[in-house]
Amino acid sequence: AQPIRVALLGCGTVGTQIVRLLTEQADDLTARVGGGIELVGIAVRRPNKHRDVPAELLTTDAAALVTRPDVDVVVEVIGGIEPTRGWLLAALNAGKSVVTANKALLAEHAGELFDAAGRSGADLYFEASVAGAIPLLRPLRESLAGDRITRVMGIVNGTTNFILSAMDETGAGYSETLDEASRLGYAEADPTADVDGFDAASKAAILASLAFHTRVTAGDVHREGISAVTSADFAAARALGRTIKLLAICERVRDADGQESVAVRVHPAMIPRSHPLAGVNGAFNAVFVEAEAAGQLMFYGPGAGGAPTASAVLGDLVAVARNRVVGGRGPRESAYADLPVRPIAQA
Ligand code: NDP
Ligand code: HSE
Repeated sequence: AQPIRVALLGCGTVGTQIVRLLTEQADDLTARVGGGIELVGIAVRRPNKHRDVPAELLTTDAAALVTRPDVDVVVEVIGGIEPTRGWLLAALNAGKSVVTANKALLAEHAGELFDAAGRSGADLYFEASVAGAIPLLRPLRESLAGDRITRVMGIVNGTTNFILSAMDETGAGYSETLDEASRLGYAEADPTADVDGFDAASKAAILASLAFHTRVTAGDVHREGISAVTSADFAAARALGRTIKLLAICERVRDADGQESVAVRVHPAMIPRSHPLAGVNGAFNAVFVEAEAAGQLMFYGPGAGGAPTASAVLGDLVAVARNRVVGGRGPRESAYADLPVRPIAQA
């Protein structure tokens, strides 16, 4: 079969690991997909920095790369909303499937991207956008599609969990631990997205949209970060047998007159040390999903970092490639439930 030809946008913490896995596992991937996966271009900002990848693949012109006739799939690991949104829309409109790790973009523009994918018949996969390596979005979109989810709750930001764990375990200071999280590749390019809760709010919006079949954007999420959490707060929590975690909580709620809506919030919370989330440390994430028939499910694993995130991206890429080889398509997204989102002040 013809190889699936991939354009990679971005070759930083995550992109470098995608290139490594595609290279090291080329034979296995070919066998799994039933055809090769070939990298035909890599868009970066500073080509001279990327000595480890073939120079002929590098370009600074992402706009031209995404619509090139020899590209079947665009994998986006640059981040940010603009100009990425325009590139991915152009790719989808041209019938190229998209795999992205970009939660900030999806939390604002998922509807527009799904509509473009629906019109052209392309796939849109984004497992890496929430909770790193943990398979979570595919279970919500597919495995639990026959159930009624009532609540999704957990730790979805690795950087803040890394910081809070260190503050709790060693009394380490906030800013030195944030520097360490950036060095390890967990933090966003602008780490205020992590510490002020924007990243977790984007992920909560994606989770709520999928779980409740509605459209929730980052602006609908009540958001509070961790920058005001102090060592005195940890001492107080410890005295009560508790610890502090940044939680994302997405709930189906019913008001007094029976009207159902969705409430989504992100904030630090004191939780008992006996709670399973209290034992989730470092850059790990954990998410509980409650569904009427399934009961309570827990998803746990590495929530950030180059290789774990690349694992999720590669899983999506294999899914897209298999769909291309056998002529199938990934799940279509529809916001049929049209549930109102509870105004933030009341959440
Ligand atoms: P990095 O900052 O490490 O890498 C970004 C890459 O994008 C770099 O290679 C950079 O090029 C390239 N780039 C930036 N602007 C442009 C541009 N205008 N045109 C072409 N290329 C450009 O980010 P990460 O790899 O950490 O993250 C990438 C995405 O993955 C983000 O959306 C992030 O939120 C998401 N993500 C990250 C995770 C993580 O743990 N790091 C986990 C889950 C998701 P150059 O190298 O030349 O500067
Ligand atoms: N900055 C993000 C985090 C990366 O720390 O969770 C993973 O999405």
